Amino acid sequence: MNIKKNDNDSKIIISKTNSNKLKFNILILILLILSFKFNYFLENKSNFFFDKYETGIYNNIKQKLFKSNCSYMWGNQREFLNGIIRKYLPKKILELGVSHGGSSIIILNAIKDIKNSHLYSIDIDSSHFVGNCVRNNFPFLSDKWTLFKGNIAAKYIEKIGKNIDLVMIDTSHFEPGEILDFLLILPFVKEEAIIIFHDIDQQITKTKEKGMREEWAPYIIFNLIRGEKFFPSGDGMLNKNIGAIKLEKNQKRFVHDYCRALGGQWQYFPKDKHIQLIQKYFEKYYDNTCQMILNETINFNRQFIKNNPKENFYEKINRKRDNKKY
Ligand SMILES: C[S@@+](CC[C@H](N)C(=O)[O-])C[C@H]1O[C@@H](n2cnc3c(N)ncnc32)[C@H](O)[C@@H]1O
Repeated sequence: MNIKKNDNDSKIIISKTNSNKLKFNILILILLILSFKFNYFLENKSNFFFDKYETGIYNNIKQKLFKSNCSYMWGNQREFLNGIIRKYLPKKILELGVSHGGSSIIILNAIKDIKNSHLYSIDIDSSHFVGNCVRNNFPFLSDKWTLFKGNIAAKYIEKIGKNIDLVMIDTSHFEPGEILDFLLILPFVKEEAIIIFHDIDQQITKTKEKGMREEWAPYIIFNLIRGEKFFPSGDGMLNKNIGAIKLEKNQKRFVHDYCRALGGQWQYFPKDKHIQLIQKYFEKYYDNTCQMILNETINFNRQFIKNNPKENFYEKINRKRDNKKY
């Protein structure tokens, strides 16, 4: 009897163990499915493909822009710029670096139907060709556009004012270039604003083409800025050449890191009138630490350029541009 009873007991124990195992396995399976779904969600979230978003809007000007030769961007970069504007529907937009106006045209076309949206563009150059493609080829897009030319952002930004939703930066590419330009706009952007940089992987192309260390500024500052990063779709990760950042909240925490990025050997030394504007701007909008970093860097680089005049690329860049036919 006892033995039989024990037999039954052990059967019960075995079946209970089996059912526990089954429950455990089901639980593991559910966890696996959930983690897979979560990863899939995360991946899709960070890789939201703006270049596939509302491309129809960009297609309205695609052929004309292509034929005009006005744009420096590749096709999927133009779609990326269009898509990100369409996704966030920004009202106040700032662009640094206009040249003929190729990127301005894409932005202006993307905000055509966004009520009260406006693009402010700034170019350091005062030449007649700055923005000429908007005026000559796409004049019907110019009613939401204000162009400032002949100076740096520090000169115009107070006129433009705070609460900027989105900034597109595509300026000199040589240090201090975009590092400085970003610091000039940061106090004027909204929390969680979108900052787009072009030519963030140009340093790779330049190394391949020329075997030279060139055009690192956008790469350095883009990677340093804290926030969620977005890139166009397509193969590879280091040849995207355009990227966007949705700024993390409370950027004040990171400002000293951004200022320290100014601290290396500059590839060109800005004109004295620009240096004075920048120093005044820092006195007004940044703390002592950033002001000290800026001033020490200016002194170091001023001396360095004096001792190594060939290192000042600024004149070279300008000369190269002036020789172009437009
Ligand atoms: C690469 S082009 C811009 C191309 C334009 N974004 C496009 O996609 O068609 C660079 C322009 O930036 C301007 N630039 C250079 N440094 C600048 C600065 N610190 N602030 C404003 N513009 C700057 C140059 O004069 C030049 O016209």
